[in-house]
Amino acid sequence: MAFLLSRRSRPAKTLKLPVPSRAQLMPILTAAARIPDHGKLEPWRFIVLESTALDRLAALAAVRAAPLNIAPEKIAKGVAQFADADLAVAVIASPKPSEKIPAIEQTYSAGAACLSLINAALASGWGANWLTGWAAYDREFMRRGLGLEADESIVGFIHIGTQTGTPPERPRPDIDAKVTWMTQ
Ligand SMILES: Cc1cc2nc3c(=O)[nH]c(=O)nc-3n(C[C@H](O)[C@H](O)[C@H](O)COP(=O)(O)O)c2cc1C
Repeated sequence: MAFLLSRRSRPAKTLKLPVPSRAQLMPILTAAARIPDHGKLEPWRFIVLESTALDRLAALAAVRAAPLNIAPEKIAKGVAQFADADLAVAVIASPKPSEKIPAIEQTYSAGAACLSLINAALASGWGANWLTGWAAYDREFMRRGLGLEADESIVGFIHIGTQTGTPPERPRPDIDAKVTWMTQ
């Protein structure tokens, strides 16, 4: 509970080298995959983006910005998200055909994988941050950049690296206002 009550992301742009090695990342990914999954469909997968891949995605984001009519400041941010990163894990929603499990429940499970991955990275002493950005919603970027199938989507890029500081705490929900106690 002490970890969960104090956990917080670290902004991706503040993350530096070193990043976890493959050997260090595997237990983090294993923990991330330990999540509720109705029907045991495993409707998600991880794509680990190492430095060269991130550079390639930065270049692709710059190319895709033109046909998408992205505003200049948004282009720079979308490109820098990859160009400035040293390691990120793309969490991919990969729905499975099922008569029993609704698609949205599969998406929830993929979202759970994102938080679980952040928490596993934080609990291991790394900084981590969940980003999406406009490129995450571009079908061409998904296909050319990550090789996604037509029914797959990007739930998040989880940036992981060495934390360089503690950002100021952001306001947290007023839990009393968010909780309803139903007694009958
Ligand atoms: C689905 C999703 C997408 C997000 N995408 C972005 C993003 O593209 N850019 C950004 O600055 N923050 C984004 N955020 C917010 C960051 O992850 C933010 O740092 C986070 O809410 C901090 O929360 P924490 O300190 O409780 O971990 C996103 C959050 C979620 C849940």
